[in-house]
Amino acid sequence: MSSTPTRREVLAIDGGSPVRKSFLPYGRQSIGEDDIQAVTDVLRSDWLTTGPKVAEFEQAFAASVGAKYAVSFSSGTAALHGAVFAAGLQAGDQAITTPLTFAGTANCVLYQGAEPVFADVCSDTLNLDPEQVAARLSAKTRAVLPVDYAGHPADLDAVLAIADGHGLTVIEDACHALGAEHRGRHVGGVAHMTVFSFHPVKHVTTGEGGMVTTNREDFAVRLRRFRNHGISTDARERQASGQWHYEMVDLGFNYRLTDIACALGLSQLKKLESNLARRRQIAARYSEAFRSIAGVVPPAVRADVNPAWHLYPIRLDPTKLNANRAQVFRALRAENIGVNVHYVPVHLHPYYRQRFGYQGGEYPVAEGAYEQLISLPMFHGMTNQDVEDVMSSVAKVCAAYSE
Ligand SMILES: Cc1ncc(COP(=O)(O)O)c(C=O)c1O
Repeated sequence: MSSTPTRREVLAIDGGSPVRKSFLPYGRQSIGEDDIQAVTDVLRSDWLTTGPKVAEFEQAFAASVGAKYAVSFSSGTAALHGAVFAAGLQAGDQAITTPLTFAGTANCVLYQGAEPVFADVCSDTLNLDPEQVAARLSAKTRAVLPVDYAGHPADLDAVLAIADGHGLTVIEDACHALGAEHRGRHVGGVAHMTVFSFHPVKHVTTGEGGMVTTNREDFAVRLRRFRNHGISTDARERQASGQWHYEMVDLGFNYRLTDIACALGLSQLKKLESNLARRRQIAARYSEAFRSIAGVVPPAVRADVNPAWHLYPIRLDPTKLNANRAQVFRALRAENIGVNVHYVPVHLHPYYRQRFGYQGGEYPVAEGAYEQLISLPMFHGMTNQDVEDVMSSVAKVCAAYSE
């Protein structure tokens, strides 16, 4: 049991007792007996990959986000690659995205031989700033990839307005935002294509896995082919039609999601609403508690937004603390709180620096936020005690480091 911290309690990093005895990760999956049963049922069936569970999962997923089509992939990264391919990006093209994201959001543009161009983020949500997008447009721009950072939807209406005016495709990276709502609409049915991930720390998991949703049939057709080597039919369709002949019409990949994974996804999807409700409850408790802790700035939520809270990233206020982010991070880890940082801005990774010449200072809002960000544990399986431990640890560390 954690106790309410007294001011300047000795930090675990300085030899005091940690708030928790065991390490609390920043995210983890919840797997129930129903999930295990769903997977073992498939293991006893005829189809381990590309069988009936794939279409079942895709249809249930499309319905849950309000899109016409959903196409599954072996990971969120593969799904992003599929979307960039379906949008027609190739060498000589550019796509605009945020630097404050997982590297995969920009890498998928490089996979197609095109160039990712970064635009800075809004200072409140840390999502792509539409004005910065407009400023980065060129004759080569073909797509925009906004990211719903932490599960807070990007300003899609503004991005779509810019895109529509220039014939661009908007690929929303909603790997953090399954179940999020913006102006009463679910993320997944608004952008030209929307990409999701089913990594274990996400709202719904298939182990590894991803999905692209779209309302456009032409995109859905290209996405399905791309994940299957560019071949126009899959093995199950050929078996059903009694045909052996197939044609490879695009250069695709094996990015298929298995029936085993889709059975897990179907079972997990049934728990999406309760998982979201628990994450929202935890976020509300955190934000309430942190209002009275000097040095901690809770994540902003804009009007008309219901975030999905994949992450709960606080920002540290350097004017109220006499320790930097690295010191606070290490002190929280010593209390056994599995804090993390999302993200090292993509352009500052060695690969991007070397290939494109970035030196730092190009995107001041994202880079400034990065210096202050710490992601606290956030997952639907957290107990009330876990939540209390996080809040006590943050209070303890900030009290020790406040002026
Ligand atoms: C914003 C974002 N985009 C893309 C991905 C890639 O997803 P995956 O790990 O399923 O490949 C992630 C992964 O966590 C992510 O956070």
